[in-house]
This record gives sequence, C-alpha cells and structure tokens, in this order.
Amino acid sequence: MSIYQILRPLIFKIDPEVAHNSAINFLKFCPKTATLFSVKRDYENLRSKLWGLDFSNPIGMAAGFDKNAEVAATLEKFGFGFVECGTVTPLAQIGNERPRIFRLAEDRAIINRLGFNNLGAEIFEKNLPKISVPLGINIGKNKDTEEALRDYLLLLEKFYQKASYIAVNISSPNTKNLRDLQNENQLDLFLSEIAKKKNELKNLHKKNTPILLKVAPDLSESEQEKISETVIKNQIDGIIISNTTIDRDLNLKSKNALEAGGLSGASLFKKSNAALKNFYKFTEGKIPLIGVGGISSVADAYEKIKCGASLVQIYSAFIYQGFGLVEKIKKELSEKVAVDGFKNVSEAVGSKI
Ligand SMILES: Cc1cc2nc3c(=O)[nH]c(=O)nc-3n(C[C@H](O)[C@H](O)[C@H](O)COP(=O)(O)O)c2cc1C
Repeated sequence: MSIYQILRPLIFKIDPEVAHNSAINFLKFCPKTATLFSVKRDYENLRSKLWGLDFSNPIGMAAGFDKNAEVAATLEKFGFGFVECGTVTPLAQIGNERPRIFRLAEDRAIINRLGFNNLGAEIFEKNLPKISVPLGINIGKNKDTEEALRDYLLLLEKFYQKASYIAVNISSPNTKNLRDLQNENQLDLFLSEIAKKKNELKNLHKKNTPILLKVAPDLSESEQEKISETVIKNQIDGIIISNTTIDRDLNLKSKNALEAGGLSGASLFKKSNAALKNFYKFTEGKIPLIGVGGISSVADAYEKIKCGASLVQIYSAFIYQGFGLVEKIKKELSEKVAVDGFKNVSEAVGSKI
C-alpha cells in the first residue's frame, strides 16, 4: 500500500478543491519531500517520437491539474512522459462559484464545474519551467470574451515558442457556448484561422509547434466524422480525446452524481474510448491521437493505445490512487507490449481497430 493510499481517507475528509490546492502547494514548495519515494525508470520499448518530439513513455499528465504551470518540474519527477499545463486564458479569472469540484467515490469519478479558474497568461508565462519532457500548453478563452478566436490567436502567439505542443481546448462544458466551436459551421473557419496563425509563427520562429484540438466525448458519430475531416483539411497536428462528459446516463451510484459540470474518471472510460475509436477510424491513422478519459490501470492505458492513441493522459485516477500509478503503469505496459510481441509500444497503436 502506498503512502498516498494510507493518507487518502484523511485527504477525502477535506473539500476537494482545498485538497487540490494543498497538493499544488506541497508539490511547489516541498518538491523533494513530495517525490522522495518516487523512483523514475525508463523502458526502451515505451519510447516514441511524434511531431519531432521525443517521448520517453506515452503516459502524460492531463490538463487541469497544473492550471498555472506551477508544478510541471515536480510532476516530471513522477515519471510522466509529458505534462500538459493549463487551461490558461489571456486574463486571470476566478471561475464559477464554490463548491465546484465533487468526488464520486463509489464511481471512482469526479465532477467539476471550475470554469477555467486561472491566474492568466502573464503569470503562466513567468511560471513556465524548463523541463526535459515535452510540455504541452492548453489554451482557452476568457468567460467574457465574445469573439473566442481572438483569445486563441493571442495565446497561440504568446506560447508558440515556449510550448512543445499547444492544445486548443474547445470542449470544456463549463464555459458557456465554448463547445459550439466544435460545430461544423464554426469549426472550419476557426481552425483555418488557427492554422494560418501557426504558419506565420512557424516561419517567424523557424520552429514547428504542433497544434492539437481537444474535443468532447459527447459528440455524435457524424459530428466526430465532420470534425476529423475539418482537422485534416486544416492540417491540425493531432486530436486529444476527450474532455469531461455532461452525460449522466452512466450508471452512477454516488450521491453527487447529479451535480452540474463535467464528469471524469472511471465512469468516462467507455464513452471516451468509443469516441477515440471513431476518431482513429475517421482520421485513418493519419494524425496522432491522445487518449484521455477514465484510465485507472495498465489495462485501461493499453486499451486506449490499441484503440488508436499514440499517447495517453490521466487525471482523476491520481485523486484515487496517487502519482505512484505512473511508474506502475509504465512497468506493466512495458511488459504487456513485450508479451504481445511488439518491439515498441508504437506498434500497438490502433492494433485493435
Ligand atoms: C478538476 C478537473 C479540472 C480539469 N480542468 C481542465 C482544464 O482546465 N482543461 C482541460 O482541457 N481539461 C480539464 N480537465 C479534463 C481532463 O484534462 C481530462 O480530459 C478528463 O478529466 C478525463 O480524464 P480522466 O478521466 O483521467 O480524469 C479537468 C479535469 C478535472 C477532473
């Protein structure tokens, strides 16, 4: 049993947001103590190269944990292959009223309706650490911005040089009308402007920073197909599947199940996987996909890879199992890949489709 599992009953007595903020402060101010028992190991068969970036393993920290880029350097020490910080918006904003994070312990799930609370792009930029694993920056719009595109272009410009990749988040359910950007009539124009800006910045900085689109798990199959076509047409470099769900028809047992917001964790696994499979099919394996949603074991991570994910990310399972999960999954994934006769994890990508 890990130290986190011993402490968990105590942590779960605290309000989830207070617990989260305390965790960030602990990782920020006591990085050595926080990572005292973590032994980072690399596995040759988990290495991959995507978009010209080296990933020592395919397990990443999902967006939303380190919203202000305060602890990415400490997270790296837990063995992640990459870390995604944000969502950052141009200006600081406080987000929705508290309480706004809820544990659904019986379901190993979380509901949040934070609403992009963050300290804004200026502070985010100052916080940005230099780390040796790829660092993704997840960008979003301010609540009061009417023309969403303006915020995304501004952030693209600000972080293009510093990011290993940029995740364009248009799928949070907690910012009014944000998900509408995924609609057919808006997305093409939106992505063509993003792609145009990317090309300008690529020429200016002589650097190719991949742009990834983060999508919701609540899209219909025809919407998934349309988005795939639009992404390919506009030469967007990858898709992150998925954000949290607004669906509650998921056999939830916890008393918090009807709280408003986005649901993540084990109960999201099937739904986000179904979306991942469809996006892999519709993009014909032409662009890398990042699979996220409900991973809590090596079996889940491997399943996402076999369904088409070149990389995976985790968030909610850390709330239930702690960061020791990263090394556990890496070790077991390396073994499973070898047992299945793959020389490298990248050979397993999409093998189930
Ligand atoms: C408390 C919380 C805050 C989140 N904040 C963000 C965010 O700011 N931006 C984003 O793109 N996703 C955010 N997410 C979604 C996660 O990145 C991830 O897509 C989702 O939780 C599914 O993964 P999981 O089941 O492993 O948690 C958040 C999730 C949680 C639980």
